[in-house]
Amino acid sequence: MQRIGLLTSGGDAPGMNACIRAVVRKAIYHGLEVIGIKRGFSGFIEADMGPMNVSSVADIVQRGGTILHTARSDQFLTPEGRAKAYGNIKRFGIQGLVVIGGDGSFRGAISFNREHNLPIVGVPATIDNDIPGTDCTIGFDTAVNTAVEAINKIRDTATSHERAFIIEVMGRQSGFIALAAGLAGGAESILVPERPFKYEEICERLIRGFHRGKLHSIIVVAEGATGGMELASKIKAQTGIDTKVTILGHLQRGGSPSAADRILASRLGAKSVELLMEGATKMMVGINKGEVYHIDIEESLAGTKSVDLEMYNLANILSA
Ligand code: F6P
Repeated sequence: MQRIGLLTSGGDAPGMNACIRAVVRKAIYHGLEVIGIKRGFSGFIEADMGPMNVSSVADIVQRGGTILHTARSDQFLTPEGRAKAYGNIKRFGIQGLVVIGGDGSFRGAISFNREHNLPIVGVPATIDNDIPGTDCTIGFDTAVNTAVEAINKIRDTATSHERAFIIEVMGRQSGFIALAAGLAGGAESILVPERPFKYEEICERLIRGFHRGKLHSIIVVAEGATGGMELASKIKAQTGIDTKVTILGHLQRGGSPSAADRILASRLGAKSVELLMEGATKMMVGINKGEVYHIDIEESLAGTKSVDLEMYNLANILSA
């Protein structure tokens, strides 16, 4: 292997830049050349790519977002789009590819690998932490810290006004961000898609808390569980309590990555290069009980990953 391609795809995640830096510098350390591909698979199709060197990744370890930019490419979902991308692979002499992204990006990469035999290593990066086969994805820790910071601030105003607040966090169909941020932020209730809930229970908890003299109530809700606005109107209808809603949205995807994310990104990025050098054809790197490891990317995607219900129960006990 002499020349590898590198792209970031799907929703950006804090730590992607630290990972790009690790891939580029580790590859160069081993004498490989790196082609950086812009805007995910779109740049592949449009031949928007070029060589990277040690200096192209200087001063980025601390930056959020991705210097390679990212996109979700509809064209790459078609065999025609992938064939076009393959033409560019040939043209640029790329012999292996590192894909930094989420499960959607990995699915695209797998189709490409099947059709055109290009060795691929996936590096899991998404704030959602919803990729099976790794304990943690790049960006999750920073997003949780961002959400906790927001909860802390909202708690100040909630206490001053003796109000109830709903904070809606991202996560698609998973509740990792909600559970971690809710537990760390001391939320009174946490709603996650993995655990069915009853509106009545949420309302009872809320009323019980105020009767017990609580000065505020914070409900953290994962976007995949229910919408924050919808929950607020249900609470209003059932209890008469006015509940303010804050939707954190895309701010959870930005910001300087936490130290934990930078370290994770550096370790996983470096491992992806080693795997390509060792002849891996379709692998995903990940973290398993603190150790960097790898797993067949298809095996990983066939798996499931769900929030820890013991942790969920603990959060409920602690916020009683
Ligand atoms: O997958 C990351 C994520 O931020 C999800 O949490 C969220 O549902 C989605 O992306 C938002 O996507 P978009 O940036 O396309 O609005």
